[in-house]
Amino acid sequence: MENNLDQIHQQALNELEGAESIREIEDISIRYLGRKGVLTRFLRNISHLPADQRPMAGKKANELKKILDQAFRQASEKHQTQDAAGEQGIDVSLPGRCVTCGAMHPISLINEQICGIFSGLGFDIAEGREVESDYYNFEALNFPKDHPARDMQDTFFISDDTVLRTHTSPQQIRTMEKQAPPVRIILPGKVYRCDSDLTHTPMFHQVEGLLVDENISFGDLKGILTTFVHQMFDEQTSLRFRPSFFPFTEPSAEVDILCIMCRGRGCRVCSHTGWLEILGSGMVHPALYENVGYDAERYTGFAFGIGVERIAMLKYGIDDIRRFFENDMRFLAQF
Ligand code: PHE
Repeated sequence: MENNLDQIHQQALNELEGAESIREIEDISIRYLGRKGVLTRFLRNISHLPADQRPMAGKKANELKKILDQAFRQASEKHQTQDAAGEQGIDVSLPGRCVTCGAMHPISLINEQICGIFSGLGFDIAEGREVESDYYNFEALNFPKDHPARDMQDTFFISDDTVLRTHTSPQQIRTMEKQAPPVRIILPGKVYRCDSDLTHTPMFHQVEGLLVDENISFGDLKGILTTFVHQMFDEQTSLRFRPSFFPFTEPSAEVDILCIMCRGRGCRVCSHTGWLEILGSGMVHPALYENVGYDAERYTGFAFGIGVERIAMLKYGIDDIRRFFENDMRFLAQF
């Protein structure tokens, strides 16, 4: 009896091995498990066996039935996926299609890097508005009406009294209005000026910094900016503070770094000066403290405004600022 079942098992597997389609597998399945199938007949004939052999034979035959049933089903599933792939003309041996994944814009990358450095130095980070009133963009920053310094920035006016902010400095005022000293904050964002050429776009990014507390000196400004430049570029990149003018800082300085292309020898990038301007800075003008209700006798502080595109152009060796905003994938995919 057992020999019989083993034979049936072996034969069924052999036939299954030779099957080349789902149809054939179905035929084999019917031949063994169908109503008139080999195994079905075996089960039916168990009653003719001697009584002591019947239970064992029944158990073994039912087990084999399950095994074969599963084998037929698996074989047919395997053929199904293969057939489907074949019908759609899919070559399953080809490597998969690559899923393209978005990446961060170079300006966002540099912006994050700048903010990361200052947050490591203990600065908070906040953002402000891009549509600003004349008061915050100019007046409170000590630009009197009709002051020629207003012409330094080619302003986009929305109405007589409302502008697209020309710099992130209005956030200095908004921050100090809300918060008493000590203030230690970084304010990144978009700014707008009516200007367009190799080094200017009508919209660009700045990161404003403001630190106000007791006993803050120009030395602190120098220390913080030196740390920033060394972390952003490298320890060999020296800085130069050049006297300048902003109505909201006194004294004011523009900061140049040693040209990272020629290391000061003079090249096209630095217009043969050996230096590159990267930011404006200075000690907060006491007039601002008056405007926000700080005690100008007690507190001093410094502020700076970094041009993000400028830094990105230097870091990545890009010679035309407009590349950043043309959305050319060949350019953007490099970062
Ligand atoms: N707001 C100035 C500009 O856009 C930069 C600046 C910021 C200068 C803070 C001094 C202090 O040119």
